[in-house]
This record gives sequence, C-alpha cells and structure tokens, in this order.
Amino acid sequence: MIQIAVLGYGTVGSGVVEVINTNHASINKKAGEEINIKYVLDLRDFPGDPVQEKIVHDFDIILNDPEIRIIAEVMGGVEPAYTFTKKALLAGKSVCTSNKELVARHGPELLQIARERNINYLFEASCGGGIPIIRPLNSSLTADEIDEIAGILNGTTNYILTEMFEKGSDFEDVLKDAQNKGYAEKNPEADVEGYDACRKIAILSSLAFGEHVDFEEIYTEGITGITAADIQYVKKMGKTIKLLAYSRKVDESFYAMVAPEIVGANDPLYSVNGVFNAIFIHGNVLGDAMFYGSGAGKLPTASAVVADIVDEAKHLHRNIMSFWSSSKLQLTDISNSRKQFFVRVQGDPAADLEKVRGIFGEVEPIVLPELPGEFGFVTEEMSEADYAKKEELCGNVKNRIRIR
Ligand code: HSE
Repeated sequence: MIQIAVLGYGTVGSGVVEVINTNHASINKKAGEEINIKYVLDLRDFPGDPVQEKIVHDFDIILNDPEIRIIAEVMGGVEPAYTFTKKALLAGKSVCTSNKELVARHGPELLQIARERNINYLFEASCGGGIPIIRPLNSSLTADEIDEIAGILNGTTNYILTEMFEKGSDFEDVLKDAQNKGYAEKNPEADVEGYDACRKIAILSSLAFGEHVDFEEIYTEGITGITAADIQYVKKMGKTIKLLAYSRKVDESFYAMVAPEIVGANDPLYSVNGVFNAIFIHGNVLGDAMFYGSGAGKLPTASAVVADIVDEAKHLHRNIMSFWSSSKLQLTDISNSRKQFFVRVQGDPAADLEKVRGIFGEVEPIVLPELPGEFGFVTEEMSEADYAKKEELCGNVKNRIRIR
C-alpha cells in the first residue's frame, strides 16, 4: 500500500479525494499498488464529512511520517506551499501539484531537488486543467524542436469572451453574470488581466525550450479593454477574439506574450468556446498538434493530479520529469514582434480616411451603421514598435487588437 497525503481540502483537494474514491479499483490497478489517503491537511475541520478522520492541521505530522511517499499539494499560492513542497522533496517524498504560481516561480529549484533524490515533482494540473499537456511535452514530443506554443489557457476569460460574442454583451455585464454563476472569482484580476495565462505559458515554454522563462518578463494584456463594439466589428469580419498566451522561437530569438487576439474561422483555436482550453503546438518535425479539453474545474483538475499520483507511485525511485535549467531564457522585447492590427478610430471615413491612409497605408475602412462616428480597418503586418508610433501619429484610435 502506498500512503499519500493531500495538502488543502478546497475545490481541487476535495476533487482529488473524490476521484480516488470513485475510481479506487482502477487507479490501484494502474498504480500497481493500493493508494491510500492517510492525511488531508487543512486549517478547517469538516464535521460530518468522512474526510474528517484524515484531517490534520500540522504539516509536520505528514513530513515526519515515513509511511507517506507521495504528497498532492493543491493549496494554491506560493506560501506556505513552497516551504511545504521543498521540505517534502528534501525528505524524499514525491510531490505533485496543480499550483501554477509555485511551478512558474520555483519550478527549476523544486525539479532539481526531486532529480537529485530520484523522486518526482509533477505538475500536469498546473496548465490546462485536465488536458494532458505537460506529459506530452515531457515524454511524447521529445523528438521535436518546438518553435511555437499558442494556447487558450484560461477558462474564465474564454467563457467571458464566448458570452460577449454570443450575446453581444459588454465585458462588465458578462463578468458579473459569470461571478453570480460561480464561473469567475469574486476577485477576477488574475484571470481577466491575463496573469493566470501568463504563468501557464511560462511553464509550458520553460518545458518546451529547456530554460526558465520568467513569467514576470512576459508582456501581458488582459481582456478588460475588449468591448461589445469590438466584437461587432470582429463578427462582421467573420472572426472572433480569444485571449491567447503564446511563445515563439524565431531564428535564435524567443518571444512570449499574453493578449487578446483576433482569430479567423479557419484557425483551430476559433471553435474553442466556453470554459474549454486548447493548446496548439508546432514542432519542426511534427508539424501541428492541438490539445483540447476541460481546462479548469474541480474534477478535470483533480483527474490530472491523480494521474500524477499514479505516475509517482509507479516511479517511486526514478525521476521521470524533464528538467529545465534555472538559467533564464532571454526573451526578445516584443517591440520587434510583427503582427497585423485591427484598429478602430474616431471619425468619418469620408473626412478622415485620407489621414489614416497617410499613416497606415492603403487600408480599407470597415463601417458599421450601428456605430456612427467611427470606423475600423486592418493594418498590414508591422512591428509593435512601428504600430505604436503610427497610433500616436493618428491620435484618434479608440482601440486596437492584434490579429493572429
Ligand atoms: N482560473 C483558472 C481558469 C482556473 O479560469 O482557467 C484553472 O487554472
């Protein structure tokens, strides 16, 4: 029997207990031994819940119990998760986690400790919830040089953008509705400002490129500036808007960015709607691959955590995780990255198009009768720096959105 502990009995922690109870027989069979939850660490008590007999409030009970071989850290946040994880690994216990903040910040150090002790630090659930993406990057796509990752990595913002697209509503109204339905947090900042997607793309890029991508160096824009009017234009263009997190290797330069982008109907990411996530990967020999599924939520995330527990049970004395170096991957300033831009300007095409064309070239105006006093257009491909200069020259830009 392999004894395990779960740190945190919140949404994901209770999901982990539920998944292990629901699929106990098949999980044991796959692990090759019975997996038993001996402790659940939480500050709270849960009287009446069968988990109560396993609840402990002191992490040292778990740390000092030699029977515990595997710990699922599903507390979230950097502290005390970092201290607990480090102590557990140093004590020779494998750890798995859904904690993207922790992996993005301290991944290389924790992976190194696990490697030195021939145990594992696994984090399938940290990116894309239940979608297998870390494992493929770690073990299936190893023949490839990956040169692009582009993902819809945040379920909350994808739900909001999908609702805005389908109902024509404004951001604030959809956000309130999503909060009432429990799809968005009371404090939605990490999701709507793109910080959550930023940490996830930092993890995926570190794995793919083998060096530490510092999430604090990734240019990040959220979806709070996207309006119902933007969506009207985009619909007329036969396209949609998605919050994309991507990283790209162009020659010897690496770019990473999180921002809302306009996506065409032929793009595989176009039809990824609601809380679903998708990760598109391009490898130099593989070509294109896309991973799609439930990117958030209690059971999908718990499913990925339990899959890591099973893998750790099967590899109690063998490190199976690719390592990424703690040296920082040098990201190129995005001002050199090139894109087309959709731009909305205040004015009337009859009076103002000439000035716009003088700055942006021979663009075609997009006019919506329901939005008088403004028009839109799509630029040719240009660098971020050139676009910024032209926007300043133009002076009457209401919004701009990059085009994938
Ligand atoms: N807040 C995250 C999301 C949860 O909406 O995708 C999963 O990481």
